[in-house]
Amino acid sequence: MRILSGIQPTGTLHLGNYFGMMRPAVELQERGDAFYFIADLHALTTVRDPAALRANSRELAIDFLACGIDPSRSVFFRQSDVPSVTELAWILSTVTPMGLLERCHGFKDKTARGMAASHGLFAYPVLMAADILIYDSDLVPVGRDQKQHLEVTRDIAVKINETYGEVFKLPKPDIRDDTAIVPGLDGAKMSKSYHNTIAIFESEAALKKKIMGIKTDSTPVEAPKPVEDSVILGLYRLVASEADFRAMEGDHLAGGVGYGDLKKRLFSGIWEYFAPQRARREEIFSDPEFVDRVLAEGAVRARAAADPVMSRVRAAVGL
Ligand code: ADP
Ligand code: TRP
Repeated sequence: MRILSGIQPTGTLHLGNYFGMMRPAVELQERGDAFYFIADLHALTTVRDPAALRANSRELAIDFLACGIDPSRSVFFRQSDVPSVTELAWILSTVTPMGLLERCHGFKDKTARGMAASHGLFAYPVLMAADILIYDSDLVPVGRDQKQHLEVTRDIAVKINETYGEVFKLPKPDIRDDTAIVPGLDGAKMSKSYHNTIAIFESEAALKKKIMGIKTDSTPVEAPKPVEDSVILGLYRLVASEADFRAMEGDHLAGGVGYGDLKKRLFSGIWEYFAPQRARREEIFSDPEFVDRVLAEGAVRARAAADPVMSRVRAAVGL
């Protein structure tokens, strides 16, 4: 089974990225032949600062490896190191109906927030389809917000197959119900765009400040506290054992424990959960050649996997 996912180097990795995409990706390394990449070509649609793009790509590579992507088992690479993906995107775009892209939330949301409506932003889902189809992927672990992009990918693959014969396999998304939408500090979906994120490699002081700053209602210490839509519980559930989570839920329901104490417990939970990744990150950070080597080897292996698919596609369409 071929597993594939990517993430854009547009900022620091947060808990939503980790539980929605990164952790499932790490687990899936055991179940098949995994390909994971840094979507730097996609990031060009929003990042216009070359130094920042380079630095973010590097940081993201370190984060991926610190979180458990194992380059001896998975192919780990930069999207732009396989230039034929843009050729495939062009070929796919020739069968992609405008209407399919016009319906995509990503483009609508970004332009509604004032971003210039570039062709790259509009064609973003076509490049994503190329990312997936060029490696004959079966399974794509992502958060719920990417579901529509996977549907578009399948629609485009079907169009190609209808037009040119059986060229592509149809990939499936792997979206985990329990972590499909990780809440941010304000209770809305955690996202860079909403400025409500908790980075997984936040400093201790910054993490404490963010957690203690979570807005809560004015329920007095003694009184029971609402559990539904509780950001504290929503985040604690991700990092705590089942028993610790039940205990915290019980403390909400029974009353007698103030929000300050509950937040301190949440802080410790998050801090401890990411301790092994933090330690691994320090090690990787101090060995820049290791990261260079991993990405260089990943590029060679990814191109080797993409080449036969591209030959098949070129032959099928008449190039
Ligand atoms: P952001 O919304 O912060 O810009 P990205 O769009 O870069 O995040 O998402 C990268 C990956 O992380 C995608 O697979 C996405 O589905 C997942 N992801 C992002 N935010 C969340 C969240 N709050 N809950 C679950 N998964 C998420
Ligand atoms: N669009 C994805 C995101 O914003 C990143 C991405 C690009 C991706 N190409 C992909 C994810 C292919 C999965 C498969 O998170």
